[in-house]
Amino acid sequence: MEQLHFGVDYYPEHWERARWAKDADLMRDMGIQMVRMAEFSWHKLQPREDVFDFGWLDEAIELLGRKGIYTIVGTPTAAPPAWMVHKHPDILPMDREGRVRGFGGRHHDCQSNPTYRSYIRKLVTKMAEHYGQNPYVIGWQPDNELGNSHQELCTCASCRQHFQAWLRRKYQTTEELNRAWGTAFWSQEYNDFAEVTAPRITVTGENPSAMLDWKRFCSDLIVDFTREQVEIIRKYAKNQFITHNYMGFADKVDYYKLGELLDFVSHDQYPGGFYLPKTPHESNHILAATLDVVRSYKNQPFWIIEQQSGITGWEIMGRAPAPGQLSLWAMQSIAHGADAVVFFRWRTCAMGTEQYWHGILPHSGNPGRRYEELQDFIHEVNPLMELLHGSMPQVQVGIVFSFEQEYAFQIQPHHRDLSYTGQVQKYYRALCERNVPADFVPEHGDFSKYKLLLAPLQYIMSPELEQKYLDFVRQGGHLLLTMRTGVKDKTNLCMTERELPGRLSEAAGVEVLDYDCLRDTQVKVRFGEEEFAANIWSDLLRLWPGTEILANYASEFYAGEPCITAHPYGEGICYYVGTEPGEALMDRLLAQICDTAGVRPILPPVADVECTVRQNDRARFLFVLNHAGEPRSYQTPEHYRLLKGQQAGKLQPYETQVLTMEI
Ligand code: GAL
Repeated sequence: MEQLHFGVDYYPEHWERARWAKDADLMRDMGIQMVRMAEFSWHKLQPREDVFDFGWLDEAIELLGRKGIYTIVGTPTAAPPAWMVHKHPDILPMDREGRVRGFGGRHHDCQSNPTYRSYIRKLVTKMAEHYGQNPYVIGWQPDNELGNSHQELCTCASCRQHFQAWLRRKYQTTEELNRAWGTAFWSQEYNDFAEVTAPRITVTGENPSAMLDWKRFCSDLIVDFTREQVEIIRKYAKNQFITHNYMGFADKVDYYKLGELLDFVSHDQYPGGFYLPKTPHESNHILAATLDVVRSYKNQPFWIIEQQSGITGWEIMGRAPAPGQLSLWAMQSIAHGADAVVFFRWRTCAMGTEQYWHGILPHSGNPGRRYEELQDFIHEVNPLMELLHGSMPQVQVGIVFSFEQEYAFQIQPHHRDLSYTGQVQKYYRALCERNVPADFVPEHGDFSKYKLLLAPLQYIMSPELEQKYLDFVRQGGHLLLTMRTGVKDKTNLCMTERELPGRLSEAAGVEVLDYDCLRDTQVKVRFGEEEFAANIWSDLLRLWPGTEILANYASEFYAGEPCITAHPYGEGICYYVGTEPGEALMDRLLAQICDTAGVRPILPPVADVECTVRQNDRARFLFVLNHAGEPRSYQTPEHYRLLKGQQAGKLQPYETQVLTMEI
């Protein structure tokens, strides 16, 4: 089968059948090759407990298929029907205040509930038997955006029992549980696993170790929930792929673990996002980071299975994408490693919560400017997608990204403005604006392929991870560590009998003897001849012999003390950053660190212009994207020829140019 690159999310069940053929014709004329359907249509597929009706979906698949448009089937388990909820109200989720959430939105389900799971097994089995050999069906998406909509849910009796069983497997005895959770504090000891609750809202305070295990459990539950569907689908659908729509940095499920179940990862990208207009400087690095983290979850190209195609909005709305912006955003996804882009949604829905989350077609169903823009885009870019086949971004810098660190900082953020993901993104911004591409890498990942590894806030530490970092530097890597590293063990208890950052002092050449949480204030930092602002935190360091000071504090009672250091270790260098550098300091610091590590920008940076490179065994492809609504120029590199664009080096507003070089 040909490679498929462009699609739409289609909801035929929202429209008269008489319209479907026209939709298919318009899609085909636009260059659409596939649709995703059915991920919220449980009632249409099973209108009553003992009645299944796949006829409408068969018809839609067939009608589209005959026009050359393939289908990705979504299992509709994000929207259990009213008859089921009415008959089994215990499948509704319960929040941390013990309140049951009602029917009327989506994901009103408890993923551990055995009754609910048995309904899912039955439906998914029937769907997989029915569509597993259908020549027009190319793949599957179990559920929708798993984890995210559930927020902190569910804490019902079933989840409590499953949590207890999870703890029993992990700790075996209550003695071990009590030790791991530090229950001697405030008399929280358990005599029996049956006494452990799912964490309800407390009168005051929470046990950080218990909360970390709860978040791990919730993540594992989502993986298990997905696995059950994946196993059923794989049994019947041997030649169809399974993917899932991720949400970038969303945190409820460990996306690395979820990815092990999938053939490839997909993602929902809404750059116009959440209603507030932002400048490219404020938003672009977040969009770029989101795409890079999605690629990193399986370290392979990914799909966008929902790409913004109009104004976003539920109750309130965002700005209208300017002409060229939808294409720019789709190109950005491709530039970071997307092999296919599916636009959400085909036609703006006339009913329900998402009446104002606009599709390619407006409510009227008549093709307008969005249709025309994306039609031109697809026709222009489809041949390029063929050339890009098998290519991946070329990267020399890794940023360590871990869900456990995120969970631990959610539980104890230290400072109102400190978030783990936010911190990681601040380091990423400086690289992105310098045109230095980066991967995100899990703690269990391969560090050895990077010249430079940034590992902010390595708060939860294990002896194995310490060893990995030491080996990386000893063997010639350049590693950046920061404040709040090596503070806790895996059970979220503070480590004792050592100064921070623990064994990593060996590489970093520093010990943290004291610190200051910068509440409502900044600290000044002197780097070379200049003074900069830094935020959140100041570590007060004792240096080991041979450690070089790169920057000193220039205010507070520790003015003159070291703040940022470099220490040679083995063949490499370990940097330690005792604060959160403000943007200017971050830019200065990373410029120096990249230079020392031999990491060069792809092109000289230009404001609002982003660059990435994808490479396969035949060629390199350089993407240059203008996020500004005004023209921009950039210095064209030697030996490249223009593959997409009018005049190399001169970018129109929102234009993307692609240049190529054979290798
Ligand atoms: C996504 C979701 C879609 C739709 C869209 C717009 O997050 O997967 O089903 O809800 O947002 O709100």
